[in-house]
Amino acid sequence: MLRKLKSFDLQSKRVLIRVDFNVPIDNDVITDDYRIQKTIPTIKHCLDQGAKVILMSHFGRPKGKINPKFSLMPAGEKLAELLEIPIKFSHDCVSDDAIDVSHNLQSGEVHLLENLRFYNEEIENNSEFATKLSKHGEIYLNDAFGTAHREHASNIGIVHNFMHKGIGLLIEKELEFLSDTLNGSLAPVLLIIGGAKIDTKIDVIHNFLNLADNIIIGGAMANTFLTANGYNMGKSLVETDKLEIAKKILLDSSKTKTRIILPIDFNGELDELGSGSLKYANYDDIKKNMICEDIGELSVNLFSDIIGKSKTIFWNGTLGVAENKDFAFGTERIIDKIIENECVAIAGGGDTVTAIRNYDNQLIDKFSHCSTGGGACLELLSGKTLPAIEILGK
Ligand code: 3PG
Repeated sequence: MLRKLKSFDLQSKRVLIRVDFNVPIDNDVITDDYRIQKTIPTIKHCLDQGAKVILMSHFGRPKGKINPKFSLMPAGEKLAELLEIPIKFSHDCVSDDAIDVSHNLQSGEVHLLENLRFYNEEIENNSEFATKLSKHGEIYLNDAFGTAHREHASNIGIVHNFMHKGIGLLIEKELEFLSDTLNGSLAPVLLIIGGAKIDTKIDVIHNFLNLADNIIIGGAMANTFLTANGYNMGKSLVETDKLEIAKKILLDSSKTKTRIILPIDFNGELDELGSGSLKYANYDDIKKNMICEDIGELSVNLFSDIIGKSKTIFWNGTLGVAENKDFAFGTERIIDKIIENECVAIAGGGDTVTAIRNYDNQLIDKFSHCSTGGGACLELLSGKTLPAIEILGK
């Protein structure tokens, strides 16, 4: 049975929490602190209950080498700012000094360990490394939803070293919306899927065939589906090696109750990405040199109509190149419509959540849930389980 945070007696206990502070960073400045913010309720609950909190995370892929570019120091500074207390930081996650710091913590104090992936043993799920890590705490919590699809020392190998272990409030919420809601969705159910690459989303689409009433496909992925349907998408990004997969998905869907809906008009550029030569087009207008980078108004109206009739919406992937204001129109109108509809609305994937926050930071709270997971979120939407959560339930 998966044990939840609120069932633990935490008074004076050293609580070792695996968090996911793998956040976007630019010149040592965190550009999106959403994942850090979402761990605050768990950390605060522990502190309020008189616990001593030790946090461990990975950051980027430093390939087992100490590299200041991948230090968790900026995340630590952000954390201290959000918690409004100073925190302790150790430059090595398994050194005797770092373990001493954890053992000497007072109730209400926080200790953040340096990037776990400075050791290759982390991703190798090395048991000696896991045992060293476990020396930091008496209770183990996993609240790193974004990493729960990985099988690493800090979320798999470490677990058997603890008698007292469970999930934090963030993972509890992610499971409530991405697993429980998925299994008991209120119809009509809509899946909106976007982004560039079909590969990462095929299993999600398959899982939603027969489960969803409608699947809207946008983003560059839609170009591949439209090409599979016989349209000429000009110079748009099309995954030509995925055309057969796209055709198969379209065929499979025709045998289910699920309708797949594709864009009918587009905005983009002429000649090459970044040319700045903007163009609006419907299917017939896409000349040889058009690059579709967003959906147009007719598609927005078509999609809005379906959104308005849906009771549960899962959304993963932007409908255009939303990081470029010229091509954020489709994504932003879809956000407006989802919020206006007041249904159960769940968004996931780094780019999707960033697009919502870039449009209007306040809107994030209007969604029933915005997942902190990328790959982990897609795994759950594909109907799969997450190893780091499974192991805690054994
Ligand atoms: C993520 O950002 O998806 C997680 O933090 C996992 O990172 P990884 O893909 O480098 O394992």
